[in-house]
Amino acid sequence: MTPRKLLLIGAGGMARETIELIHAINREGARWEPIGVLDDNPDKRGTDVLGLPVLGPCAMATEVGEDVDLLACVASPDDPPRRARLVERLGVPDPHYATLVHPTAVIPDSARIGPGSILHAQVVLTADVTVGAHVAIMPQVVLTHDDRVGDFVTFGAGARVSGGVTIEPAAYIASGAMLRERITVGPGAVVGMGAVATRSVPAGEVWHGCPARPAPAARLEVA
Ligand SMILES: CC(C)(COP(=O)(O)OP(=O)(O)OC[C@H]1O[C@@H](n2cnc3c(N)ncnc32)[C@H](O)[C@@H]1OP(=O)(O)O)[C@@H](O)C(=O)NCCC(=O)NCCS
Repeated sequence: MTPRKLLLIGAGGMARETIELIHAINREGARWEPIGVLDDNPDKRGTDVLGLPVLGPCAMATEVGEDVDLLACVASPDDPPRRARLVERLGVPDPHYATLVHPTAVIPDSARIGPGSILHAQVVLTADVTVGAHVAIMPQVVLTHDDRVGDFVTFGAGARVSGGVTIEPAAYIASGAMLRERITVGPGAVVGMGAVATRSVPAGEVWHGCPARPAPAARLEVA
């Protein structure tokens, strides 16, 4: 199979993690040819990200041909809808985005994964899990039966989600968080590092602790 060209959008830590993921996939057989990175910071132009050149602003993603796939590589717990805003601003249709899955991830036939989503090493989806578009899932995240993950959700490493949980678009589930069965995390909400969420988390709120409660911080902007 001829490797597909791939252009990453965003030149930060998530891009470097994604490049390492691409290398891991390619070690099993060349599937992707990463050609560069786009970023709106003019200071980054002409630099390189793990050997890939920063070619220009993010808007260049709208000019590439059919032979180039895209991936939006920005994420921040301080601004969970950031990746959604980037993809919506570019307006490139979802089929132009790649889906990357690490060779050690466990993905059963019953799973559905949308375009633009990235699943890192040792992610496990057990049964009937639906993952939307542009979802970022860091290493060792476990999603269990009937979980529904909306577009633009981000999971930090090691988050664990019980069965039948709904995570609405652009929510951020931080590293090591645990979610009780059948709860809902609202759009743009943040569940903090190591939190144990036993109740549904409303849209745009930041909850942390065990059991998780609203953090004193102000509400975040909802996507
Ligand atoms: C929940 C979170 C968003 C809060 O961040 P924040 O609003 O900047 O909070 P602050 O650091 O100002 O801390 C405010 C208070 O909450 C506490 N706190 C912050 N995060 C906490 C957490 N996850 N659990 C328990 N308490 C927490 C702080 O200790 C502090 O308490 P204090 O005032 O008594 O000292 C952040 O801690 C978090 O989880 N970020 C995600 C990190 C992550 O997973 N990154 C992965 C990708 S790199």
